[in-house]
Amino acid sequence: MPRNIFSDPLLTKAFSSVLSPDGNKLHAKAISWSIAAGILEGLSLGLIVPTISGLIDFGGLDSISWWLGAMAVLALAAIWVFFQQQRTAYMCAIDILNNLHQRIGDKLARLPIGWFGPRRTGTVSQLSTEGIMSIGGAIAHGECELIRTITALATTNLVILVWRPQLGLALFAGALLVALCLYLDRMLRDRGHQLNVSDRDEVSRRIVEFASCQPALRAAGRSQDYEPLADALAADKKSSLAKFLLSTAALIISNFASQITVVVLFVTATALWAGGHLHPVALIAFLGVALRFKVLLEQFVAQFTAADLVRGPIGEVEEILETTELPEPDSVPKDSTKQAMPAPGMVEFHEVGFGYDSDTSVLNGVSFQASPGTLTAIVGPSGSGKTTLFRLMCRFWDINSGAVRMGGVDVREQTSAQLMRQITMVFQDPYLYDDTLLANIKMGSASMSPGPDAVSAGDADVFAAAEMAGVRDIAQRLPGGWDCPVGSGGRKLSGGERQRVSIARALLKNAPIVLLDEATSALDPENEARIQDCIATLRRSSTVMIIAHNLNTIVAADQIVVLNSDGTVESIGKHDALLESSPIYAGFWQSRRSAAGWSLSR
Ligand SMILES: Nc1ncnc2c1ncn2[C@@H]1O[C@H](COP(=O)(O)OP(=O)(O)OP(=O)(O)O)[C@@H](O)[C@H]1O
Ligand SMILES: [Mg+2]
Repeated sequence: MPRNIFSDPLLTKAFSSVLSPDGNKLHAKAISWSIAAGILEGLSLGLIVPTISGLIDFGGLDSISWWLGAMAVLALAAIWVFFQQQRTAYMCAIDILNNLHQRIGDKLARLPIGWFGPRRTGTVSQLSTEGIMSIGGAIAHGECELIRTITALATTNLVILVWRPQLGLALFAGALLVALCLYLDRMLRDRGHQLNVSDRDEVSRRIVEFASCQPALRAAGRSQDYEPLADALAADKKSSLAKFLLSTAALIISNFASQITVVVLFVTATALWAGGHLHPVALIAFLGVALRFKVLLEQFVAQFTAADLVRGPIGEVEEILETTELPEPDSVPKDSTKQAMPAPGMVEFHEVGFGYDSDTSVLNGVSFQASPGTLTAIVGPSGSGKTTLFRLMCRFWDINSGAVRMGGVDVREQTSAQLMRQITMVFQDPYLYDDTLLANIKMGSASMSPGPDAVSAGDADVFAAAEMAGVRDIAQRLPGGWDCPVGSGGRKLSGGERQRVSIARALLKNAPIVLLDEATSALDPENEARIQDCIATLRRSSTVMIIAHNLNTIVAADQIVVLNSDGTVESIGKHDALLESSPIYAGFWQSRRSAAGWSLSR
């Protein structure tokens, strides 16, 4: 969570949490160098006035030669320490840039799929493009510089306090006023941000919706005046104005603080001079120091703001790094992916209860079993939980009650590698990588699957699988043939074509369990026949589970699991028996047949 300004004002703890162990050692050094640099800078500045006073009081260069020598040494030491501070601070920034991408990537690979929603995906992409860069910049230009400035201010103040307590107290009061105004500035900006943030989000959401739903909006004749977007823009305009006014007030307060500090210092010093407590030359020297003190205060405000800007991104990184990973058994030996499952190809649901959130349950008391080498069709109304069943088999989410066993072992007692090695998934709208057609099929070969015994599929196997799934036709159509890049997500191919590539992958992987979400859209008879052939081939070596829409698939199934709309199992059986016993199945069958090949999902 974003850290509170009081619990971690300089973000030191926050930076520690995003640095690597080596980076943390460097960070401690960078902070030490920053403090040392600040002390030297403060001493050099603070000692100017006593030195000049010494010149006046004792008369003659000899009496202050010691002071001058000390100041020269201080100046040289300050240069060297400043260099060390910059070097270590930049190395911390490089540590963040080098390691944080890797750490976030490693973490994402272990998070439950349920964690990845549109908001999270947006946050991760924002972090990887800008966020991490800004965190790295803030440690070098924000935190370390800020520590140096604060130490320089404190040291200068201390020296002047010892020399002339009244002037020291005036400097202290000025610094306190600036800190107070900075706090007010932050409060006002936060308030402005809170007023506007939900309206900003709503505008972004509506713009994305407006852009991505153009076909639907045009079909409904609403592409010109899309009210939800217009309303969101109007609300944003109103709250943006309030935010702007608050930010302006904050800016005025910040500027006011350093100006008023200088006035207070001038008045106090002049009063001391008028009372005969300060020599005119010392007064002028002090006024010079006061102006430099003002610059340091302004630097403090700017550096604090620069460091503070990354409070949000650091909070987001911490949230990702602290998210609980999908627990995996740690007693499983490293080479366990080689070991055979006790019941390869067996799928079992035992009294499974599941909901995506605690308020709603999607599946209730679901029990069924699919024996190795059989074909199971899953049917049920839209929203009854068919896709959810598949997700639970892949352990994208953990169930609330009961057990899901794949290959005879509870999915929670297997490592992801063991589980994924058993399963191939063919989704309705498969994702293809931005690579060639051939490389996308090869993705299914053992070399791409987890496991130390992975063997690369030979080209003959790849082409055989591609031929069977009907990918050769696609290769012939594309300009570069098998080597043609398919574009990001496979956008050069149609939905049906992407599914054929995905089926070729499944044939090649030859996993014990195949999960197939059948296309709801009508396929042409030739493709239909191909898919049926592929299913028949897959069935020879694997347990096949299909969310079925096609009548041929359903009739050919060894068993059909019929789900109720409340996520319970209505009945399990073969086609003929279910027609008699299951009202949902009989209705489903009837509507399919009357649609005569149309596949409206009901
Ligand atoms: N990621 C998710 N987060 C929250 N709820 C979800 C999520 N995915 C699905 N649901 C909800 O779970 C229920 C079951 O969804 P599921 O996709 O499993 O249904 P389905 O039977 O596959 O439907 P369809 O035939 O339309 O594909 C639905 O009410 C849906 O709104
Ligand atoms: Mg579905």
